[in-house]
Amino acid sequence: MKSRILNALRKQDGYVSGQELCREFEVSRTAIWKGINQLKEEGYVIEAVPRKGYRIVGYPDSVGKVELESRMETKWAGRQIVYLKTVNSTNNYAKKLAENGGVHGTLVVADAQTEGKGRRGRGWVTPKGAAIAMSLILRPQLIPSHASMLTLVAGMAVAVAIRGVTGLEAQIKWPNDVVINGKKLTGILTELSAEMDAINYVVTGIGINVNIKEMPLEVRDIATSLQIQLGKPLDRGAIICEVMKAFEEYYQKFMEAGDMYLLTEEYERILANKNKQVKVLEPGNEYTGIARGINSQGELLVEREDGTVAAVYAGEVSVRGIYQYV
Ligand code: BTN
Repeated sequence: MKSRILNALRKQDGYVSGQELCREFEVSRTAIWKGINQLKEEGYVIEAVPRKGYRIVGYPDSVGKVELESRMETKWAGRQIVYLKTVNSTNNYAKKLAENGGVHGTLVVADAQTEGKGRRGRGWVTPKGAAIAMSLILRPQLIPSHASMLTLVAGMAVAVAIRGVTGLEAQIKWPNDVVINGKKLTGILTELSAEMDAINYVVTGIGINVNIKEMPLEVRDIATSLQIQLGKPLDRGAIICEVMKAFEEYYQKFMEAGDMYLLTEEYERILANKNKQVKVLEPGNEYTGIARGINSQGELLVEREDGTVAAVYAGEVSVRGIYQYV
């Protein structure tokens, strides 16, 4: 009820009468009044004017269940929400949930992580109330070796959502870091549970540096936040909902083709490495070349000095810019 009331108030610029709400949701005035009070307790500022009704004039900075449910515009992605104030890692939580039957599209969101996980065994810091940490449960009918491409799909969704909400020129550093002005803004960690020939579930974990005023000294040269880039704090809920919307759209195209075939053009449009010099750090084999784009398997196409083109697979190598992080 709370999220339905919130949704109705959010849609309206002016007042919504209590009577209208009762009629729409087929409940008593007392039920509406209770819902309004609960929302106020959660930090929403709601004006109540006799004979006019209710109007929302202030929102808390919340990524809570009710807030997200009332704003989510997707069909399935993020339609089931689990919100946690603090958790060790949203990926770990989502994996447990998936083991116990958590449905496709379930989104686990936390306000803080105590043991956030990064790629290659590294950690990921999620300061309380200032960042986005979320993990999406997926159950795609795909061959397991194609699951890693979902990371590229998620990277695209995040970059495009950030562009939409902030107007900033977010780009992708292959395969899936989202960068702004050459600095890392987002990390994605995809984990897979599969049999030889079928996927049980995929958990795609996304961390976004949103309202962090200053990055820790040790990463200041290579990492940034939206607040640093824009000079003002942002609404985390809006970003989460936009990411889910974009992800749902790209996921559909990805599943239609079974790979990145229908998405390569759009991916390359926002690829920071495109036509830039990169250094490929393959175990036992380092070389430089120009990144030209990706193929339908999501591999980076690197043109070497002798004119040959190498398809670089994300799992094995890391790619660096020559002078900078990108
Ligand atoms: C990277 O190393 O770039 C990947 C970082 C992924 C961090 C996110 S935050 C939400 C989810 N939960 C985790 O423990 N990790 C991912």
